[in-house]
Amino acid sequence: MLSIKEISKSFIQRGLVLDNLSLEVDEGETVAIMGPSGSGKTTLMNIIGLLDKPDAGEIIFRGTSIASFTENESADYRNMNIGFVFQEHLLLPYLTVSENILLPLLASKHSHEELSVKKQYLNGLMEKTGISDLMDKYPFRISGGEAQRVALVRALANNPSILLADEPTGSLDAKNAGNLGELLLDMNKEYGITIILATHSIDLAKKMSKILHLEEGKLLV
Ligand SMILES: Nc1ncnc2c1ncn2[C@@H]1O[C@H](COP(=O)(O)OP(=O)(O)OP(=O)(O)O)[C@@H](O)[C@H]1O
Ligand SMILES: [Mg+2]
Repeated sequence: MLSIKEISKSFIQRGLVLDNLSLEVDEGETVAIMGPSGSGKTTLMNIIGLLDKPDAGEIIFRGTSIASFTENESADYRNMNIGFVFQEHLLLPYLTVSENILLPLLASKHSHEELSVKKQYLNGLMEKTGISDLMDKYPFRISGGEAQRVALVRALANNPSILLADEPTGSLDAKNAGNLGELLLDMNKEYGITIILATHSIDLAKKMSKILHLEEGKLLV
């Protein structure tokens, strides 16, 4: 599904972060990327999500080379294929939970029928993640664990084929972290969504089908 071929990335102040790194991800696979702080996990996730560009190397997504996409092509690729979850939920404070979740739908065009299918799908997601009762609340009125589940549903709103989760349990206690980890797996099983996740948590990483270690710019098994 996703083939990353010998990408390199450096930052002027820091030097080489990713060094001829390669990675193959199959459809429906769940991959954990571990590695010390500053090893380049977020840099790699940003590159996969086309939020940033590699200096060299190729990225092939379902047969298409995407590393040299323009800004517009990158935005389309993100809207159609990628869901993001970050360490902080990044919900917009002045929108309710349901408005936050529906926001990504506004970024893409849908017919009336598509919208009603979407809403059914979203209702199912909200039920499965246990956030149905929070719809009209504002983000500051819900807990961190709840907010992170809302962020997960928002990330899945556009039916992405890949979920990129960067330290998604970093701000949660052990119970909520375990809960979110299980939800990620449920989403993978139910919708076949491919998950690439960066984490410092070995417990979370162990839930994924593959664990890779980012060290000195390379991914090791
Ligand atoms: N936009 C940028 N400009 C300059 N340096 C950057 C930039 N983004 C990241 N870096 C540097 O690249 C290195 C890798 O950062 P990155 O955020 O990818 O690490 P990480 O593995 O995600 O760390 P953490 O576990 O702390 O989240 C760090 O040394 C960081 O300071
Ligand atoms: Mg990071």
